[in-house]
Amino acid sequence: MNNHDKEQAAARLAAISKLNFGYYPTPIEELPRLRQALGENAPRIFIKRDDYTGPGFGGNKVRKLEYVLAQAVADGAEIAITCGGLKSNHCRVTAAMCARLGLRCILVLNEPTQPYTLTPASLKVDEMLGAEIHRVQSRDERKTMMAAIAEKLRGEGKKVVVIPLGASIPLGAIGFVRAVEETTAQLAAMNLRMDYVFHSTSSGGTQAGLVAGHQLLHLAEKQIIGVSADDSSASISAEVATILRGVGELLGVEFDESATVLDEYFGAGYGLDTPESLAAIDLLARTEGLFLDPVYTAKAMAGLLDWIRQGKFSADDNVLFWHTGGQLALFYAANGSDGETGGQGDGGMK
Ligand SMILES: Cc1ncc(COP(=O)(O)O)c(C=O)c1O
Repeated sequence: MNNHDKEQAAARLAAISKLNFGYYPTPIEELPRLRQALGENAPRIFIKRDDYTGPGFGGNKVRKLEYVLAQAVADGAEIAITCGGLKSNHCRVTAAMCARLGLRCILVLNEPTQPYTLTPASLKVDEMLGAEIHRVQSRDERKTMMAAIAEKLRGEGKKVVVIPLGASIPLGAIGFVRAVEETTAQLAAMNLRMDYVFHSTSSGGTQAGLVAGHQLLHLAEKQIIGVSADDSSASISAEVATILRGVGELLGVEFDESATVLDEYFGAGYGLDTPESLAAIDLLARTEGLFLDPVYTAKAMAGLLDWIRQGKFSADDNVLFWHTGGQLALFYAANGSDGETGGQGDGGMK
C-alpha cells in the first residue's frame, strides 16, 4: 500500500456517514497493580475502555452500529432485524440505538447450550428497550428465522434491514478502523507505543477493523492478537479475511488478510466459564477495581495472562488490552422477564 493508496483510503473513510451516538475517545488507562501482581517480567499493561462507548451499556458494537445503522437510515429502513445469543451485547446495543432512532427492532435470540435458570439482565434490557424477541433453539436457526421475518415484513410493504451477526460486515468494521485512528492519537499524546493489542474475537468485525486500521496507519510493528470466544482459529481468521477484503473494497486498497486468532482459551464453548476466565475476572476486580465480562473479555484476558506467565513478553513491552464491554452478562434480572422492573422498594423509609 503506497502513500497515494493511503490518502485515497483516508478520503473514502472520512466520507462514510456515521451516527454520533458513542462517547469518544474512550479512555486508555494503565494497570500497574495488575502488572505488579504478575511478577517482574510482566510487560506494562494498558486498557482501552470500549466498555464505556455509551448506548445500551456500551461495548464494541456501538462503533460498528454507528455505521451500519446510519446506512440503514439513509436507505429508509423502518425495521432492523438482527440476531445473537440470549445475552447478546450486539442485540442489546442494536435495540438501544434503534430506540433512539425510532426504528422498530426485532431480535432473533438463540437459547444457550446450558439453559439459564434466571433471566439474563441483557434480555430484560432488550425488552425494556421495546425490542420484539423471537427465540430459537440453536445458532443454526438464526439466519433462516431472520430471513423469514424479513420476507414477511417486506411482503407487507415494510422497509427492513437485516444486520448480520455482530454487525460484522465491512461497513461495521469501519468503526474499528476509526478506533485505531482514535487510539493512535491518544497514544501519541501520551508519548506511548504499544507492541501488542489483545482483544476478544468472535464474529471477526472488531479484529478486521483493528487489522485494517493498523495497516493503514503503518503500525505494522504492533501485533494484533484476537482471542476466540467460541470458534476455531481457522474459522475466525477466515471470517476476518473476508471482512478485510470488503473493507479494502470500501476504501479502495488491498490489505494483507492474515490475522492471529488464539483458540485455546474458550474452554468447553461459548459462554461457558473456565477456571482461568473466572480467575481473570477476580484478578482484575481485586487489583484494578474493574470488571471483565464472562463471555468475551475474561477469556481474552485469560489468554493475555497465560502469555505473560509463559514469558512471551519482556518487561520493556507495552500491551494494550482492548476492553470490548459485555459486563451485563454478569447479572440476571431480579423479577424475570415479565415486564416488571425488579425494584424491591424501600419500605417507605428514606
Ligand atoms: C463484549 C464483546 N467482546 C467481543 C466481541 C467479539 O467481537 P466480534 O464479534 O467483532 O469479533 C463481542 C461480540 O461478539 C462482544 O459482545
